[in-house]
Amino acid sequence: MEPLVELRGIHKQYPGVYALKGVDFDLRPGEVHALVGENGAGKSTLIKILAGAVSFEQGEYRIEGKPAQIHSPQDAIRRGISVVYQELELAPRLSVAENIFFGRLPSRRGRVLWAQLYRDSALVLEQVGLEVDPETEVARLGIAAQQLVEIARALSCQARVLVMDEPTSALTPSEISRLFGLVRRLREQGTAILYVSHKLQEIFALADRVTVLRDGARVATSGAGELDEARLIGLMVGRPLGEMFSRRHRPGGAPALEVEGLSTARVRDISFQVRAGEIVGFSGLMGAGRTEVARGVLGLDRRLAGRVRVGGEELPPDSCAAARRLGLGLVPEDRRGEGIFPQLGVGHNASIAALEQFSRRGWIEGGREREAVAAQVRRLEVRTPSLGQRISLLSGGNQQKVLIARWLLRQALVVLVVDEPTRGIDVGARAEIYRLLDELAGQGLGLVVISSELPELLGLCDRILVMKGGRITGALERAEATQEKLLALAL
Ligand SMILES: Nc1ncnc2c1ncn2[C@@H]1O[C@H](COP(=O)(O)OP(=O)(O)OP(=O)(O)O)[C@@H](O)[C@H]1O
Ligand SMILES: [Mg+2]
Repeated sequence: MEPLVELRGIHKQYPGVYALKGVDFDLRPGEVHALVGENGAGKSTLIKILAGAVSFEQGEYRIEGKPAQIHSPQDAIRRGISVVYQELELAPRLSVAENIFFGRLPSRRGRVLWAQLYRDSALVLEQVGLEVDPETEVARLGIAAQQLVEIARALSCQARVLVMDEPTSALTPSEISRLFGLVRRLREQGTAILYVSHKLQEIFALADRVTVLRDGARVATSGAGELDEARLIGLMVGRPLGEMFSRRHRPGGAPALEVEGLSTARVRDISFQVRAGEIVGFSGLMGAGRTEVARGVLGLDRRLAGRVRVGGEELPPDSCAAARRLGLGLVPEDRRGEGIFPQLGVGHNASIAALEQFSRRGWIEGGREREAVAAQVRRLEVRTPSLGQRISLLSGGNQQKVLIARWLLRQALVVLVVDEPTRGIDVGARAEIYRLLDELAGQGLGLVVISSELPELLGLCDRILVMKGGRITGALERAEATQEKLLALAL
């Protein structure tokens, strides 16, 4: 079948980074074509080129066999090419409806037709299965709902080509299966779909064809049926991967974190303990209150009742400064909102929580700081031309790695909470992060892992607590925990 769109021999360079090295890619009507590769391999760059959002130095862009001039996102949208980006691109202060029809509000004689806008929005919202009032301000929605608004926007453009860059990274299992239903329906209607994901089960569940990028070059395009997981990983990583989970068990030491009867506006009566050297997991559906427990413990949300002790010392309520001083660290879930400092370089983003370690009499010792940061950046294989590179120019997964490096640099930590630590992280780096967490536990750190991925919790944790509606509904020891039991407690 003739491709709907086709990229041929695309070369793209950024200062210091050769992002795409002569890549060929095409999309046929009625197929899901998955694009996979490690963090920084060039997937998002290829997508931005398809979308007309970035230029390229060399190569050809064809639509239905003919050379096409796509130089702006408007050009692409006009030709029926719509993109749901990896990082949410919504205007938080505008309504859901205004976001969906941004730049295309229905109007007559210069006046916006609000009634029609809300009607049209309600229609596409129904298509994606999001039950919100179109007049709701986007800032009031959770990440998952915001992602669905992006998808609704893409659909409202009558897309013939729909591009999705890690669309499920913030969705719950039921939202994911609804999204899959939608993708399959669109495929049946003849839409060409480019799908990017680090979750291999998704690739095998959805894709008709798979293209693998490694280091900016295409290493393979093949039918999904001709691949299995091991082969696909081999193509992506280019070397054999060791064990995914390498958790070594040790008896827990002294209590590192003790939480008793903690309540905030979002969680009720939370009690649990993490010993030095233990990894304790939090499972549950999106919105069950897992992140909110972390926020309550760290003093980011107001504590209404309960006690928290860190390393045996009482943590006063509502004091983030005290939490830090006693050795609590957090790798947050929403890196764009609360994690990174987009204007700063990779090095400063990594060292910002550990500056006092590198200062003497009030002066930062730049040399020692750079050395320590460079070691972590190497260890996590962060792909960056230099430590001075602005973090916002890194690929999504590499930004996440820098956030993890930030907490690995801190020496005085007693407890580290990691919220969705491998979201957007490729398989190779994922195994490395699991190894690191195990190593940290081995050094006596208490770890709390919040995750929506059950295999991750089962592979890593000594104990898993399950939450629902702001409360802990059960606790399973490693030996007795299974996916089924975790789900039963979460539902
Ligand atoms: N605007 C930019 N300026 C400089 N370098 C960039 C820019 N955008 C991307 N890069 C670099 O280009 C390379 C490819 O990045 P890209 O975002 O395409 O990777 P990716 O495959 O989408 O990775 P991930 O899985 O982490 O999302 C990376 O090394 C990245 O740091
Ligand atoms: Mg990307």
